[in-house]
Amino acid sequence: MGDSLKIAIALGTRPEIIKLSPVIRELEARAADYFIIHSNQHYSYEMDRIFFEELELPKPKYNLGVRSASNAKQIAQMMQEMEEILLKEKPDVLFVQGDTNTVLASAIAAHKIGILIAHIEAGLRSFDRRMPEEANRIIVDHISDYLFPPTNEAKLNLRREGIGLKEMITWRGPFTPKIFVTGNTSVDATKQNLDLAEETFPNYVESLGLKPKEYLLVTAHRAENVDRPEVLKEFLEAFREISTETNKKVIYPIHPRTRKRVEEFGLTTKGIKIIDPPGYLEFLLLQKSAACILTDSGGVQEEACTLGIPCVVLRKSSDRPESISAGGAILGGVEKNEIKKAFGTIQSAKSWPNPYGNGFAARQIVDEVIKGLL
Ligand code: UD1
Ligand code: UDP
Repeated sequence: MGDSLKIAIALGTRPEIIKLSPVIRELEARAADYFIIHSNQHYSYEMDRIFFEELELPKPKYNLGVRSASNAKQIAQMMQEMEEILLKEKPDVLFVQGDTNTVLASAIAAHKIGILIAHIEAGLRSFDRRMPEEANRIIVDHISDYLFPPTNEAKLNLRREGIGLKEMITWRGPFTPKIFVTGNTSVDATKQNLDLAEETFPNYVESLGLKPKEYLLVTAHRAENVDRPEVLKEFLEAFREISTETNKKVIYPIHPRTRKRVEEFGLTTKGIKIIDPPGYLEFLLLQKSAACILTDSGGVQEEACTLGIPCVVLRKSSDRPESISAGGAILGGVEKNEIKKAFGTIQSAKSWPNPYGNGFAARQIVDEVIKGLL
């Protein structure tokens, strides 16, 4: 392994770019030997390049250009291309974050050729097998060498599956996978960028015709929700009715998957202000000034909790139960009346401790990997 460590970072989607940005900053600050491989699972400007620009991230050394396809095709193509790069570059360790197809494909490719895997945001479980992400993260957790669950609850999920309990025979000798609870790097990113957001876009919320605390912010993009016309219809109706009943505007920065489905299913978005997804800095501002957030996004649930905004989770189960136990979020399900009821209940939430950490996750993650491998 020598006296310097070669690190590869694989990423491919909006949340991975955002949540890995503090790790990249940390590696930059230490002048570490690292490079980025971008699968291009996300490729539209507003889902990809805008984040590199706003967060001033270095360009990926490799772009796989995989783009959209069915799950199996996307994963297969990513694995093939990822393997070639990893064989050529021979990094000591591959960092992956979260549970997307990019994460699964990269981790399998690395594992098969004996490259160590550091999984950031390990241990999340929704116990909902319909989610493509659930299998992705379970598989990746079971082949990872360094696991960084954000919370004790996530660590417990790993322990329940026996991870980190037994020594393994590996190409590098006997090794027991290591688990460190670090907090979520989304908190690091929020703390690092909130002031910058305010300085860069001082009147962003007002420029959309919104008054602080007098609007609701919604996002929904989970495949098991928005690919089903009956669920997407319930969401749109719930947003519209809540808007009318509270006399608050609803703003919906719409994910490209959902935009496509709304058109395909011929649904109306009347009464809802739809906008193209803005960059991370603008979206942080939209969250911070919202009266309430309704979302099925994982990252947005965490950010709402960090920013102190009450949140209705538009799902039947959550892989972020910590927001709910802390008192900042409520499970709203996927039916209009349930969502409306949950919205009514969460209005009384005032303040809660942040279960996702203090904003130093990236530092700890980089420390542990360097300490363990050098
Ligand atoms: C993916 C991840 C999901 C994550 C989400 C973050 C998987 C299985 N899903 O879901 O876990 O929460 O990213 O946003 O990995 N599209 C564009 N431009 C883009 C990207 C996508 O127009 O840059 C459209 C395409 O029509 C595509 C659809 O969105 O078919 C879905 O994209 P895909 O990456 O397959 O899944 P996401 O829903 O984005
Ligand atoms: N986000 C953004 N613009 C938007 C919506 C979300 O920058 O229009 C950011 C948000 O702040 C969070 C991340 O994207 O950091 C969440 O991504 P997404 O909801 O697509 O995926 P998930 O977290 O559910 O995997």
